Amino acid sequence: MMAGGTIRLLIGVSSILYLICGSLGFNPVDKHLITCGSKTNVKVGDRVFVSDESDSSILSTPQKISGNSSSISSSFDSVLYQSARIFSGTSLYTFPIRKQGRHWVRLYFSPFVHEGYNLSTAKFSVSAQTFTLLKEFKIESGYRMREYSLNITSDSLVLTFTPATNSFAFINALEVVSLPDELIPEDAITIGSKENHQNLRKRALETVERVNMGNETVSPQNDTLWRLWVSDDPYLTHNGFPTNVSKKEAVKYTTWPTEDIAPPSVYGTATKLDSTRDLSLNANLTWHFDVDPGFEYLVRFHFCDIVSESAQPLILRVFINSLFVSNSLDLRYLTKNILGTPYFMDAIMRVSDSEKLTVSVGPNNPDVTYPVVFLNGLEIMKISNSRGSLDSSFNKSSKMKVGVIVGLAVGLFIAIVLAAVFFLLCRRRRRRRRRLTHAIHSRTDDVMVNGMESKDTDSTAMFSVSKIGYRFPFVAIQEATDNFSENLIVGVGGFGKVYKGVLRDNTKVAVKRGASYSRQGRAEFRTEIEMLSQFRHRHLVALIGYCDEKNEMIVIYEYMENGSLKNYLYGSDFPSLSWRQRLGICVGAAKGLHYLHTGSTKAIIHRDVKSANILLDENFMAKVADFGLSKTGPEIDRTHVSTAVKGSFGYLDPEYLTRQQLTEKSDVYSFGVVMYEVLCGRPVIDPSLQREKVNLVEWALKWQKDGRLEEIVDPLLAGQVKPDSLKKFGEIAAKCLAKHSVDRPTVGDVLWNLEYVLQLEGNDGRSDHNRRPSLQADHLESSVSNAEFSMGSAGDLAGVSMSKVFAQMVKEEMR
Ligand SMILES: *[C@@H]1O[C@H](CO)[C@@H](O)[C@H](O)[C@H]1NC(C)=O
Ligand SMILES: *[C@@H]1O[C@H](CO)[C@@H](O)[C@H](O)[C@H]1NC(C)=O
Ligand SMILES: *[C@@H]1O[C@H](CO)[C@@H](O)[C@H](O)[C@H]1NC(C)=O
Ligand SMILES: *[C@@H]1O[C@H](CO)[C@@H](O)[C@H](O)[C@H]1NC(C)=O
Ligand SMILES: *[C@@H]1O[C@H](CO)[C@@H](O)[C@H](O)[C@H]1NC(C)=O
Ligand SMILES: *[C@@H]1O[C@H](CO)[C@@H](O)[C@H](O)[C@H]1NC(C)=O
Ligand SMILES: *[C@@H]1O[C@H](CO)[C@@H](O)[C@H](O)[C@H]1NC(C)=O
Repeated sequence: MMAGGTIRLLIGVSSILYLICGSLGFNPVDKHLITCGSKTNVKVGDRVFVSDESDSSILSTPQKISGNSSSISSSFDSVLYQSARIFSGTSLYTFPIRKQGRHWVRLYFSPFVHEGYNLSTAKFSVSAQTFTLLKEFKIESGYRMREYSLNITSDSLVLTFTPATNSFAFINALEVVSLPDELIPEDAITIGSKENHQNLRKRALETVERVNMGNETVSPQNDTLWRLWVSDDPYLTHNGFPTNVSKKEAVKYTTWPTEDIAPPSVYGTATKLDSTRDLSLNANLTWHFDVDPGFEYLVRFHFCDIVSESAQPLILRVFINSLFVSNSLDLRYLTKNILGTPYFMDAIMRVSDSEKLTVSVGPNNPDVTYPVVFLNGLEIMKISNSRGSLDSSFNKSSKMKVGVIVGLAVGLFIAIVLAAVFFLLCRRRRRRRRRLTHAIHSRTDDVMVNGMESKDTDSTAMFSVSKIGYRFPFVAIQEATDNFSENLIVGVGGFGKVYKGVLRDNTKVAVKRGASYSRQGRAEFRTEIEMLSQFRHRHLVALIGYCDEKNEMIVIYEYMENGSLKNYLYGSDFPSLSWRQRLGICVGAAKGLHYLHTGSTKAIIHRDVKSANILLDENFMAKVADFGLSKTGPEIDRTHVSTAVKGSFGYLDPEYLTRQQLTEKSDVYSFGVVMYEVLCGRPVIDPSLQREKVNLVEWALKWQKDGRLEEIVDPLLAGQVKPDSLKKFGEIAAKCLAKHSVDRPTVGDVLWNLEYVLQLEGNDGRSDHNRRPSLQADHLESSVSNAEFSMGSAGDLAGVSMSKVFAQMVKEEMR
């Protein structure tokens, strides 16, 4: 009793110590390091492996034979491979588990010859609890460590070694060690599959590859969790000029991820694309890995920008087997603009028929002349299948398969014949036959799923922040909005009510609660949100998360302090905006739209551009809100919008009304309407006015045509608008409002022209938050530092003109 208490106390003290000085590394609660067959303990680095003879309770076996090898391997842990335990019958190792949760199970194998046992001929299976780790396993030469991670939910772990018929089993050393809870996620996003998420809680994982990019191996002594990270060189495709970077001192850990996710020696080295070699180069970095087909793999990408000199925009595309993991991974945003901050991302991929898993990382914007493309580390973990197995020999050996199937069929046949007796009286033959096939299926499932949970339940907790899509529990939202208090309503729209909310970490959010949806709508809603949450841009209102529990359809956005542009234009007591401010807001909104239209392979059409959807932050910087959601599938549409036509009256593309076809140019039309709204400071439709004035567009276009636009400018702007900038502004707006979409400019063109108008207004006022990139470049030629430029534009990923300017600058610098 006393001893137990002391140990518990010690653990308590050590975990407090660990909390205080995190740099000490992870201190596992369960730590069983065993060297098998050796009479003495052995030391590897600062870890002591205890002889399996020292504690008889661990090993229960009918026959134990220890072996001893004098063969020398050069590995630092070679001492572990010099003895072995040999089993001629089924044998168990049982380890007490004090802390439930994920544990490493590491198995060390190296065959040698001992007293008539040639270990190269051994053939055996290993299982842990209900999981098959190895089946009919053979190792003929060399040495090899197999690493698994298991969620152990009982107070002991049983490892079972079963020799094949007429053969025997062996093991050189083994480890059972606790992992930090947060190392393996409870679920992860799946790629290329209908299911969005895969629950990992009850799955066993096997480390297939753990690779450090940058051509350097990281040994277990340099890893808090004693992991080996091998150099990526053998896997790397060498076209596209990969180079290695090493800058370990540049790695800056924040609260998450910690060093337990990957050590500084992993985040501090990278393989990057050497884009200076070939200026027109637009390639990917690609690695190929061998995997067993028929399994799902958890792939973890480690990024840390030790490559860039300054915080210039950095958006990557990440692929597995040519499928997008992310088509715009905005690392700058994800690492809060701090260089050297580690970031990691998980994805699950099913590999069906190929024996390769190919990972590629490339630039997001093909127009960037010097793309920054790199990767710091990669882990590939095989996920146990529905039979609880990690072994692929079942898939491979067809003989065995036939055997098993025949056995199963015979068993089932007997079962079904028995069952049939009960049903014979009332079932016809044909129906019975159908039942036979059905029974085979369900029976198989029952057997295979034994002890496993295969369905995701609804009550999953909040995703960790490292994920692409953030799903919130309903209760968290109730709490944030004071149970949807009427006092917190900040808006009501077609989608539903919008509440102001405060999350537990004091983040202010806007919570949009839509009408509930049908079952099918749910998957689409999730997919849509996850897709949209990848669109990150300075001029788009950031999507923080969503909730689809209990048929709710809730979207959580960042909170915009100053509300909508509409409020500031008319019909309220808000102070008036200056002409420069208004231009800046138009430029910002155009940038946001431009990014939506061009930021990914498939253009996102906003569908509801209007002044009420252009929001202003505390600095009056414009951000486009409500994008894309309207694009959701028909299931959702049916429930929350009754008519086929989307968008708002007065802003609608007339061509859309006649042809029912939405294009990016429909957004351009609506944007033109907003421009006149901004200029004239009046609502788009105002029924209280004389007939010819009711519709802003008709009215403004008439004055535009007569060349007397100055007469309808918002009186509050009197004296502020220069004639040539007014002329240009009016022209752009009129072009946007062309009847036929082909005659309208792209948002990119509109943006360019608006920046020009802003330039015409001169640079006297200082209130502009949306300075034109080329203006900054002009500055630069008169020698402002590169760093300043990049800081100024950090996070502003507006696109083509931006990157061209930057590329131009780098060229200048390099001369
Ligand atoms: C293994 O064999 C070597 C000689 O080859 C011997 O020195 C050593 O003590 C042996 N170890 C065990 C555990 O039997
Ligand atoms: C042990 O078995 C392997 C594989 O069957 C064989 O190649 C090797 O020669 C054997 N070694 C001895 C010493 O019998
Ligand atoms: C382990 O399994 C338990 C029970 O299913 C679950 O509550 C827990 O979250 C799991 N832990 C991990 C790390 O997956
Ligand atoms: C990695 O290192 C090896 C040997 O040091 C070298 O041959 C190879 O070219 C390097 N690869 C890269 C991508 O630098
Ligand atoms: C650990 O990393 C440091 C810094 O990179 C290096 O100097 C040291 O040799 C490494 N230790 C081992 C055991 O690899
Ligand atoms: C890349 O790796 C090679 C071999 O490991 C090394 O000689 C070279 O210095 C490394 N280059 C950089 C930039 O770290
Ligand atoms: C990068 O890889 C992806 C996926 O394999 C491919 O679709 C794309 O064309 C590649 N890009 C280049 C420039 O090779």
